[in-house]
Amino acid sequence: MLENLNGLRRTRLCGEITRELLDQEVVIMGWVQHRRDHGGLVFLDMRDRSGMVQTVFNPQEDQATHEKSHGVRSEYVLALVGRVRLRPDDMVNPKLPSGDVEVLIRELRVLNTAKTPPFVVEDDAQVSESVRLRYRYLDLRRPKIQALFALRDRAARLTRNYFAGLGFVDVETPCLTKSTPEGARDFLVPSRLAPGSFYALPQSPQLFKQLLMVAGFDRYIQIVRCFRDEDLRADRQPEFTQVDLEMSFCSQEEVMGILEGYVSLLFREILGVPLELPLPSLTYAEAMLRYGTDRPDLRYDLHIEDVSALLSSSGARVFAEPLGQGGCVRVLKAPGAGSRLSRKNLDDLVELAVSAGAKGLAWIRAARDGWQGPIVKFLSPAERDALASALDVREGDVMFFGADRADIVATVLGRVRQALAGLLGLDGPGGEGGPDGGAGRWKLLWVTDFPLFEYSQEEKRLVAVHHPFTAPRDEDLELLETAPLAAKSVAYDLVLNGNEIGGGSMRIHRPDVQERVFAALGIGRAEAQEKFGFLLEALAYGAPPHGGCAFGLDRLVALLAGQDSIREVIAFPKTQKGGCPLTDAPGPVSAAQLAELALKSSVSRGARELPVAGAPSAPEAGGGAAGPGPARGKAPAPGAA
Ligand code: AMO
Ligand code: AMP
Repeated sequence: MLENLNGLRRTRLCGEITRELLDQEVVIMGWVQHRRDHGGLVFLDMRDRSGMVQTVFNPQEDQATHEKSHGVRSEYVLALVGRVRLRPDDMVNPKLPSGDVEVLIRELRVLNTAKTPPFVVEDDAQVSESVRLRYRYLDLRRPKIQALFALRDRAARLTRNYFAGLGFVDVETPCLTKSTPEGARDFLVPSRLAPGSFYALPQSPQLFKQLLMVAGFDRYIQIVRCFRDEDLRADRQPEFTQVDLEMSFCSQEEVMGILEGYVSLLFREILGVPLELPLPSLTYAEAMLRYGTDRPDLRYDLHIEDVSALLSSSGARVFAEPLGQGGCVRVLKAPGAGSRLSRKNLDDLVELAVSAGAKGLAWIRAARDGWQGPIVKFLSPAERDALASALDVREGDVMFFGADRADIVATVLGRVRQALAGLLGLDGPGGEGGPDGGAGRWKLLWVTDFPLFEYSQEEKRLVAVHHPFTAPRDEDLELLETAPLAAKSVAYDLVLNGNEIGGGSMRIHRPDVQERVFAALGIGRAEAQEKFGFLLEALAYGAPPHGGCAFGLDRLVALLAGQDSIREVIAFPKTQKGGCPLTDAPGPVSAAQLAELALKSSVSRGARELPVAGAPSAPEAGGGAAGPGPARGKAPAPGAA
């Protein structure tokens, strides 16, 4: 019953069939979206990657073809030959470009049948994500989803052209390599030829791109897959794509200028949104103080103020105690939020603050008949006046107080700020099509002047905030030995609506500086040699000053496409547990494969392991459900990913 193309050639895509083709004969090929039998007439909506067109089968046109159309079902693959004609007025579908025409079919070939799909292949189908990913090839047939990949393709092409135009050379770097220093956990690949040894999949091409600068490539670009074994979230996948670049003989300003040109190109070409350049920037210290995060969402103007000085002699225990121990008191004011926050909202925010590490979250509501809240009675009239004027408090405002060590207060009020924006509906898309061309929805900024190091409570030593090859500011070099935590790096992150979409830095190119940074990190010569010896050696052979950056392409595309999760713009993503419901990866391997790699599994033989003779491709019942084991080892350094 199935037929072949037998030389029949497609002449048009479904979405191309418009009035302009009236009375012409066309050959279309695609999938059956929908079949309607109106007694005499049968209608098939045909879909291909370009869109949809209605076809009609009339027994008076061709009896046998009409007869044949009765056997056709959704998602069958057909080739159709027919003539374009106008639809009757009352059947025009204004939503489709082809909505005022249809194709009257004279020949139908069934190229393939299809099982009834687990969900209807249409944009509004209500399907769980696990079913979507299990049948991702059907999910990807949906027009909205195809549009996401067309957008991703455009972004990738704009990227390649932009950087090529500036003399960047595309170079591929290895996937089987040594551990790289981005601070997440590595994926390891056992070596068969060197039993007991492992390759690591690159967390980024960081060291290779630096080697390319030593090699004199001057400007490097790569759209490259990176691998990090991290706990997954909506904006994190174990394998993801970076737009990775590096340049020589440049300043931080030059790198940032080129990157700004790049994002403004994407915004203009993809969204039609003009960006005003140069982009605003905040230092890390300012961002932490004012917004409580190093990736502030500036779509809403909620900010934090330090009021320690105003409360320095306060009798309120919640303030006096932390201030006495060198801490601070800061306030997040939510203008006019009083009537919009219920008591339950306030209680939830307190709970959130506590789960973020606070001892509490005092709040004050400025009501018509005075200030209300749990700590109002502990404030003197003078303190109230001082707060009211410093914070310009008006009736209806709500204030949230954090009192603790500065880093704790920043984190806590940063989280409260974000949650508050959600409660008040400030973080949704808005301003679309406004006088600024929709630019108000998009808040981009640089965050600069990161600390070079931070103290890891877990490891009881300093760790690099970015990676150990990040250059310290020239003026901070002497702090490396005297006050390393005060040293700042020449690093910059690009933040879009509260998401870190890219990050980079100038690198250390002098072996003596690199040694001092390793020393500050407590990395001895032997360890440095073992881990990064090849890079250190290369730096000794004439490394030019260099710096660069990497954008998270998945994040960038997801944001440009208005998607909440990067999984939407990755063709075959992993679930939150790192599994692929489609292929059932990760899966068990045979004992023979393990033996060949000189590996032994400590997981008891059972559902996860195949017998020696087992076919690796035959998943066992339940075998695919389990993700990789719980996270072990060192957590990624904040700011590293
Ligand atoms: P960084 O670690 O900041 O820098 O990564 C650069 C960008 O990659 C994206 N990203 C991710 N996207 C999806 N899933 C993940 N698991 C993930 N991790 C990171 C983010 C981030 O901004 N070698 C340096 C760059 C440099 O210094 O040139 C690096 O990799 O958008
Ligand atoms: P308590 O005296 O501990 O019951 O706290 C009184 C109020 O202050 C409550 O609303 C607490 O949530 C709040 N609070 C307690 N400790 C802190 C703190 N360190 N920072 C901010 N608010 C706090």
